[in-house]
Amino acid sequence: MRRLLVAGNWKMHGSRAMVEELMNGLLDGAGSVPGPELAVFPPFPYLALVQSLAGGSSIAWGGQNLDPHEQGAFTGEVSAGMLRDFGCRYVLVGHSERRSLFGESSAQVARKFFAAKAAGLVPVLCVGETQAERESGDTERVVAAQIDAVLDSGGTAAFADAVIAYEPVWAIGTGLTASSEQAQAIHAFIRDKLTGLDGTIGGQIRLLYGGSVKATNAADLFRQPDIDGALVGGASLAAEDFLGICQGAG
Ligand code: 13P
Repeated sequence: MRRLLVAGNWKMHGSRAMVEELMNGLLDGAGSVPGPELAVFPPFPYLALVQSLAGGSSIAWGGQNLDPHEQGAFTGEVSAGMLRDFGCRYVLVGHSERRSLFGESSAQVARKFFAAKAAGLVPVLCVGETQAERESGDTERVVAAQIDAVLDSGGTAAFADAVIAYEPVWAIGTGLTASSEQAQAIHAFIRDKLTGLDGTIGGQIRLLYGGSVKATNAADLFRQPDIDGALVGGASLAAEDFLGICQGAG
């Protein structure tokens, strides 16, 4: 039985005051949504604050990115060990904004994935196709290639205890959501691919959907057999909206 994970990617949003208000709202409301696991992904400077507010609670947190090196002269970068120091359980790798705006290749994303695992973090591998790729019928090929970059270096075992977030690029921040059938079809494709390699890992891995998830569409997405939660952007910035999504997880 896979426990649903509802994760909020705050992206580059927030301030000290906003983080305090949001976290206090989530901590107050988390007890009313006992079903899913809740996690937040604040910008790096707020990790310590989130740790001090949410430490000992049921809410987990993680980084939005990491550098694959353990340490060194990499100005501006943050290592997996540093994220662990601030109590992170998770880290996002290969978010489409990192791939498109910062030029991250699937090979670099794979290095980050393994650096996260080596440090004891759970990597959340983000995959997804652009609008043009969907229109040209390439969705499965693109998603498979993004997953293969990790499989090629680490084999199927790499996905034990990992999480994959399917986020179609055309649905991120656009108000366009993949229909629950469209999302389910790709989630089933991903699970079948992994199950074909290792039935246990394919059956256990949590597959999140991301892209304009809101309280109004969450329950329908979560009803799909291969959707195990959500990676939420805009609607994770207000406690009421995020908790409304969590309520959809039953
Ligand atoms: P939105 O929920 O704002 O579409 O963002 C999705 C996302 O990119 C989460 O990582």
